[in-house]
Amino acid sequence: MNQRIKNLLKALVLCIAFPIYAQQGGMWIPSLLKGMNESEMQSLGMKMSIQDIYDINNSSMKDAVPHFNGGCTSEVISPQGLLLTNHHCGYSQIQSHSSIEHDYLTDGFWAESLNEELPNENLTVTFIVRIEDVTNQVLEGVLNTDSEGEKQSKITKNISKTVSSFPKESWQENKIKAFFEGNQYILFVTETFKDIRLVGAPPASIGKFGSDTDNWVWPRHTGDFSLFRIYADKNNKPAAYSKDNVPYKPKYFFPISLDGIAEDDFTMVFGYPGQTQEYLPSYAVEQIINDLNPAKIAIRDAALKVTDEFMRNDQTIKIQYASKYASIANYWKKWIGESLGLTKTNAVQAKKDFEKDFIKRAKQNPQTLDYTTLLSEFEQLYKQIAPYSLSRDYFTEVAMRNVELLVVAYRLYGLERSYTTEQSFSDKKENFINAQERFYKNYNKNVDEKVFEATVSLYSQKAPQQFLPEELKNVDVSSLTESIYSQSKLTDYESLKKLLEGNSKEVLKKLNRDKGYIFAKGLIENYIQNILPEYEKLNTQIEALQRTYMKAQLDLYPDARIFPDANSTLRVTYGKVDGYSPKDAVYYEPLTYLDGVIEKYVPGDYEFDVPQKLIDLYNAKDYGQYADNGKLPVNFIATNHTTGGNSGSPAIDAYGNLIGLNFDRVWEGTMSDIYYDPSICRNIMVDIRYVLFIIDKFANAKHLIDEMKLVHPKSEISTSK
Ligand code: ARG
Ligand code: ASP
Repeated sequence: MNQRIKNLLKALVLCIAFPIYAQQGGMWIPSLLKGMNESEMQSLGMKMSIQDIYDINNSSMKDAVPHFNGGCTSEVISPQGLLLTNHHCGYSQIQSHSSIEHDYLTDGFWAESLNEELPNENLTVTFIVRIEDVTNQVLEGVLNTDSEGEKQSKITKNISKTVSSFPKESWQENKIKAFFEGNQYILFVTETFKDIRLVGAPPASIGKFGSDTDNWVWPRHTGDFSLFRIYADKNNKPAAYSKDNVPYKPKYFFPISLDGIAEDDFTMVFGYPGQTQEYLPSYAVEQIINDLNPAKIAIRDAALKVTDEFMRNDQTIKIQYASKYASIANYWKKWIGESLGLTKTNAVQAKKDFEKDFIKRAKQNPQTLDYTTLLSEFEQLYKQIAPYSLSRDYFTEVAMRNVELLVVAYRLYGLERSYTTEQSFSDKKENFINAQERFYKNYNKNVDEKVFEATVSLYSQKAPQQFLPEELKNVDVSSLTESIYSQSKLTDYESLKKLLEGNSKEVLKKLNRDKGYIFAKGLIENYIQNILPEYEKLNTQIEALQRTYMKAQLDLYPDARIFPDANSTLRVTYGKVDGYSPKDAVYYEPLTYLDGVIEKYVPGDYEFDVPQKLIDLYNAKDYGQYADNGKLPVNFIATNHTTGGNSGSPAIDAYGNLIGLNFDRVWEGTMSDIYYDPSICRNIMVDIRYVLFIIDKFANAKHLIDEMKLVHPKSEISTSK
């Protein structure tokens, strides 16, 4: 039978068994794969055992997958602690070593020996040593009849007791995280390495090829990778940077497959997904689509338009704002895709159908009758919280994210409020001044002024009027902007330092006469007094309700495939290499090739330029052992359920070999954080052969290839038959 028909039949069987939970996807806890996951993975073609993935007694794959600086994932790929992650995950380290003379962002960087590897202050990677379910310990003595406050304080106490008593080595750490909204608690024993050095990075024209235009988009052609190395002390234990440290000897590292992938191949992604919200009620999703996303998108839209125009006309501004622009544009674009996807897949209706079924089931059993009122309680609470959530989003987007003067003012407000003694004030002030130096290096007053005018206008017109700060009521935004930016001392580092000269009394007096600060303080205090308390009160109720709703789903659908929402802990997701159809008559193949890079090539363009050396290799078809039928693979997609934080995650074949490096998702499927639809949700990976080709042929860093273990699983299997 054709594979496609087989898949369809399988999906159909699942649909009949669990009509509501037919959705695939899922991010699973690596220590709990036995049973349902294991057989599902085998039916998708997995040949390794689940002990190969996670084993407490022997080394296993999890020993090669550290969290990279708390936000991304990475994997160990050699016995000398060589570490692979995305270019965008190592971006700020690459940038921090760059100067006009050594522009590693533009030209790339390759250490030719260990001596040339570059240390990075504050960069850490964290391994998971052990995973233990500690739900019973954490919920001990917590009663249903307790108030929400009592419950939380008992839980907090139990957590700190368990953390301090669970056995661990002196250099390790215990952490407990809540799963299923607090229906399960899991403890992680971790090990954090602090001496991580930069080994290699391709030029941005490979590592960030396609930039913002191609971000969140398939077909993709980006070599989004960089290489680091973990260093340890002489006993192979974590240690602060020292020139005497040596390359870490890992418990496990990934062999790398040269055999590539084909449509329908099993794939698994192992990493640290940050946050998902798969079990929200329909009312919450409606609010995201109708109110919250549009507001945030409109604010960023306005800010990005202004900034883009400056960046196009001024090279200095372009460099100053490149990284900030990329970061603001990343989620701006994601939210647009998310709203489109939620609408297109009728996510709200699907949720409503589920809710109907949920209530029906709850009514069938006297013990679950209490659950029948959950949804109407949600409806009430979401109605009540709506204006507070929206006001909160306007405030955070405008004052804490997009207008830089307000961001500085917010930090200054913290300084003012933190006053205890003269000495501590003066220490904090010094720290603040030092920390702002880097900020002002990348600050341009004219850009910020225009961003202020555009976003504050939106704030004053569109935010819920009943919670608008006085400063924004009936205001002429353009003259307000003019007066702030012509008078405030916060628009320039030197004048800010002057403003902060003197003792606390003098400083606070000057500060509270500054036009910019006065305005910001009005917004901040309005937020703290009129929005935040009610928001937090309602949100605590929503969280408590969500915990019950989660428990209710687990109770009422005992056989369903319910996975815990992402929470920055280590997870396994699996699927198949698979193309998709984004719209009528269009079908996307799952693999891209270097030919596509050349098709997109725009000489001199900041997003689509291609290095001459890569063009030469393409013309000569000099792909070495990395070609696939004469073509060089670049990126591929599969049905793995990933989210932010999975960047840099290893993509693994059926036998446990590395085949790729996760870095993004497709445009039509960016709603997967809220609603995973297997027909259009795909994760995007760099084909490992492209990574190896760039290291070997483009950068001539063969010594790095020699460290790795390259394997041919497919040909080994076929010859052994
Ligand atoms: N969209 C990907 C993720 O959320 C990649 C972001 C980095 N790339 C970029 N062009 N900004 O993080
Ligand atoms: N690009 C994301 C990351 O940096 C991954 C994703 O959201 O799919 O983690």
